Amino acid sequence: MTRTSTHASTRDATRDSDRNPTGPVGVGIIGAGTISSEYLTHLTSFPDVQVHIIGDLVPEAAAARAAEFDVPASGTAEDVLAHPDVEIVVNLTIPVAHAEVSAAIVAAGKHVWTEKPITTAPADAKALLEAAARAGVRVGGAPDTVLGAGIQTALRTLRDGSIGVPTSALTLFQSPGPESWHPNPAFLFQEGAGPLYDIAPYYATTLVLALGPVVSVSAVGSRAREQRTIGSGPRAGGVFDVTVPTQVAALLRFASGQNATVLLSFDSPHSRTGFVEVYGTEGTLALPDPNVFGGDSALTAYRGDSATPVPASGATTGRGLGVLEMARALRAGVPHRAQGEIAAHVLDVMVAIETAISSNGTIAVSSSFAEVEPMPADFDPGAATL
Ligand SMILES: NC(=O)c1ccc[n+]([C@@H]2O[C@H](COP(=O)([O-])OP(=O)(O)OC[C@H]3O[C@@H](n4cnc5c(N)ncnc54)[C@H](O)[C@@H]3O)[C@@H](O)[C@H]2O)c1
Repeated sequence: MTRTSTHASTRDATRDSDRNPTGPVGVGIIGAGTISSEYLTHLTSFPDVQVHIIGDLVPEAAAARAAEFDVPASGTAEDVLAHPDVEIVVNLTIPVAHAEVSAAIVAAGKHVWTEKPITTAPADAKALLEAAARAGVRVGGAPDTVLGAGIQTALRTLRDGSIGVPTSALTLFQSPGPESWHPNPAFLFQEGAGPLYDIAPYYATTLVLALGPVVSVSAVGSRAREQRTIGSGPRAGGVFDVTVPTQVAALLRFASGQNATVLLSFDSPHSRTGFVEVYGTEGTLALPDPNVFGGDSALTAYRGDSATPVPASGATTGRGLGVLEMARALRAGVPHRAQGEIAAHVLDVMVAIETAISSNGTIAVSSSFAEVEPMPADFDPGAATL
C-alpha cells in the first residue's frame, strides 16, 4: 500500500546520523511527574541510551527523580535543552504543554520523543513536524506500547494473511475513570485529555497500524458527571470540573475501505478495557491490550468456534521502548517506527471525533503517514548494539 503524507517528513537520515555516528544516544527528560518514573526505570536500564539530565517546571521534583534513578543532573527545561550530551529530549509534560515544550526542543536542535497526544491542536503538530524537518531532527510520539511484543506480534499475524483480508474492527475501553488512582487527575478530564485524548491514542494507533490511515469519522459523546472527586494522594477529597465528554462512541472509515467501531468511556461502573478485534474474510484476530507491552493474540478461523493462541514475541519491557527504538534508528540512519506523522494523524482522528460529536456530522480526515514495518520478533532492549 502506498501512502502519501500530508505531514512534513520529520527526518533526514543522512543529516541526523552523520551528526552522532556511534555510542549510546544521550537522552534528557522534561517532566518529572507520574509517568517519568516508568520511563526512567527502563531508560536507565537500556545500554543503548544514557539519561544525562531531568528538568521540570518544579526543579525540586526533577532533583528528586534524578536522585531516585542516579541521573547525574537535574534542573529546568532550559537546562535540559542546554545540555551538550543530550540528543533526544523526552517530553513528559502535561498535554497542554506538549506543543510549546516540543517546539523548544526542536529549536534547540534536539530530537523529540513526546508523550501523547503529540499536541492538543493539529496546527501545532503540523508546525512541529515542519520545524523538525527544517532542523533535520526527528519527532517520535507515544504510545510505544504498540511497539511491544503483543501488538507487534498481532501486526505480523495480520500481515501474514492469517485472517484473510481485514474488513473491520471493534475496540472497547470502559472504566469508571482514573480519578480514583491518579494523585493529580484534573487534567485527565479537561482539554487535551478525557477518554478521547488520553485513551484513544492506544486504540487508534493500533487501528491505523493495522488498517492504515483513517479518512472520515462520525461519533457521539456525553458526560455523566460535571464534577469528580480526587480519590488518592495528598489532594484526596478535592473536587474538580469535568469539561470534556467522558463517554465517546465513534465510527472510523479507513482509506482502504474498512471500518472500525470504537467505544471509549470513563463513565462505566465496570471495567472492560483492552478489547481489540480485527475481522477478516477468513477469520478474526483478538489483539492484546494496546496499553501494555505484552499479551498473546487469539486467532479464530471463519465460523470457527475455538480460538488458537498466537504467543507474543518481542520486547515487553515498558515505556521508553519507543525512545530506544528511535535511538537505534537514529544511529542506523533509518526511519524510526513511532513516527511523529502517525501521532499527528491519530491527533487528527481524535479532533475529528470531537468535532463529529459537537457537530453531529461526519468529519473528513486528510492527513496520512508512510507505512511502517513491524518490529522484528527478536528486538532486544537489553542488548548493547551501539
Ligand atoms: N500517568 C500515566 O499513567 C500516564 C500514562 C501514559 C502516558 N501519560 C502521559 O504522560 C504525560 C505526563 O503525565 P503524568 O501523569 O506524568 O503528569 P504529571 O502531572 O504527573 O507530571 C507532569 C510534569 O510535567 C511538569 N511540567 C508541566 N509543564 C511543564 C513545562 N512547560 N516545562 C517543564 N515541566 C513541565 C509538571 O511540573 C509535572 O512534574 C501526559 O502527556 C500523559 O498523557 C501518563
